Amino acid sequence: MTSGPLKIAVAGLGTVGTGTLKVLETHARSLERLSGRQIVVSAVSARTRDKGRSVAVDGFSWYDDAVVMAADADAEVVVELIGGSDGIAKQVCEAAIFAGRHVVTANKALIAEHGTALARAAEAAGVSLSYEAAVAGGIPIVKALREGLAANGLSRVYGILNGTCNYILTAMRESGRTFDEVLEEAQSLGYVEADPAFDVDGIDAAHKLAILAALAFGCEVDFGSVHIEGIRRISPLDIRFADELGYRIKLLGIASLTEGGLEQRVHPCMVPVQAAIASVEGVFNAVVADGDFIDTLMQVGRGAGEGPTASAVVADLVDIARGHITPTFAVPAPALKRVAPASMNRHWGAFYVRLMVVDRPGVFADIAAIMRDHDVSMESVLQHGRDPGEIVPVVMTTHETEEAAMTGTIKSIKSLDVVVEPPCLIRIESFGPPMARG
Ligand SMILES: NC(=O)c1ccc[n+]([C@@H]2O[C@H](COP(=O)([O-])OP(=O)(O)OC[C@H]3O[C@@H](n4cnc5c(N)ncnc54)[C@H](OP(=O)(O)O)[C@@H]3O)[C@@H](O)[C@H]2O)c1
Repeated sequence: MTSGPLKIAVAGLGTVGTGTLKVLETHARSLERLSGRQIVVSAVSARTRDKGRSVAVDGFSWYDDAVVMAADADAEVVVELIGGSDGIAKQVCEAAIFAGRHVVTANKALIAEHGTALARAAEAAGVSLSYEAAVAGGIPIVKALREGLAANGLSRVYGILNGTCNYILTAMRESGRTFDEVLEEAQSLGYVEADPAFDVDGIDAAHKLAILAALAFGCEVDFGSVHIEGIRRISPLDIRFADELGYRIKLLGIASLTEGGLEQRVHPCMVPVQAAIASVEGVFNAVVADGDFIDTLMQVGRGAGEGPTASAVVADLVDIARGHITPTFAVPAPALKRVAPASMNRHWGAFYVRLMVVDRPGVFADIAAIMRDHDVSMESVLQHGRDPGEIVPVVMTTHETEEAAMTGTIKSIKSLDVVVEPPCLIRIESFGPPMARG
């Protein structure tokens, strides 16, 4: 039986680190009642000791070197809140595990890229590697997949996994502005990092998706196999056409076990407006799990920020204080399956295609012939009015088809001299209530 306070050492005192200290202070009493032990910060480390911080850290032992702290501090748990998939963050976690200390982290890049190896090391050392805060911040999806849904065979897990992208797409739709205009405004308001690439190019969502897939399917984390596309090429025109066709454009991460292997993809999707996930707007995240006994579960909440992320870090600490330690990815690390990645070429789905073409007789017949030659069947076509000789948008949606057929179709369409811009291709996903299809 464990007794006495749970001593923790915190590496990183930025947004999440200081947030965690605030939650621990604000709810010290109730956390003690919940876990049966006080949770006490014994040591901290950050890059710059004399930096002004929104919480007082003078009362804690200070370490200039977070790796030394992880190895030496008087603490049962090391909380890694520095960030980055390699370098110092990884060294801190490895040192803590080697010293027999539990690790709590919010670091999705680290878990996505090194999760399997770290899980093996942690479980061999008999310590916990906890990372609730790494996926969708305030949404307790890791615990839900690892514990609450244990009775289910899960077939698919997907969601809106990046609040920045969802905010940008929502603002574009509401204001009619371009991606660049909304991004610039979001940066000036401090909603988005100066370098937004991780967010808008889909990498952050892919990190989270790879973790969700490992948890849902009991397989090794395979970030390298995630198909990733971001939202930079989404235009106000496509958002308007989506509206007209009854869709919302969302950046989704989708993982499923298919006959061809593990399919993991992050890309913009057309989602029917009546699907529950279509109504998740702004900075909110959503994660959906499809299971054989629950049907569908959707959790919605704030995916980032000081409060939601710290809330998840502290929930992990409460589990450890209670002595509730589970395998990192639900299945013990040595038993995690290695599932071959499914080829994106074999992906099966419907598509939205927007072409900018010179309005000339016969254009449409040429496009239709190319689609027929690739065995792609059209579901609908939208063209507003005629403007002979001018450049006009033509929008088509297809019935379900293989990705490779669509890629071939687009390649041939691109080579037509009347097509003046690279076609815009967006996959259509049919979640929730079935899509109205012909
Ligand atoms: N922010 C969010 O909303 C959010 C949400 C989910 C997950 N996360 C994850 O949480 C982690 C932390 O994110 P954050 O937003 O809190 O980052 P942050 O505000 O940039 O803070 C990073 C902290 O790490 C410290 N640090 C940097 N290099 C260090 C080193 N060599 N040794 C010791 N400390 C070092 C910094 O020290 P100084 O303060 O002295 O510079 C700073 O306190 C990341 O893995 C991130 O992906 C963040």
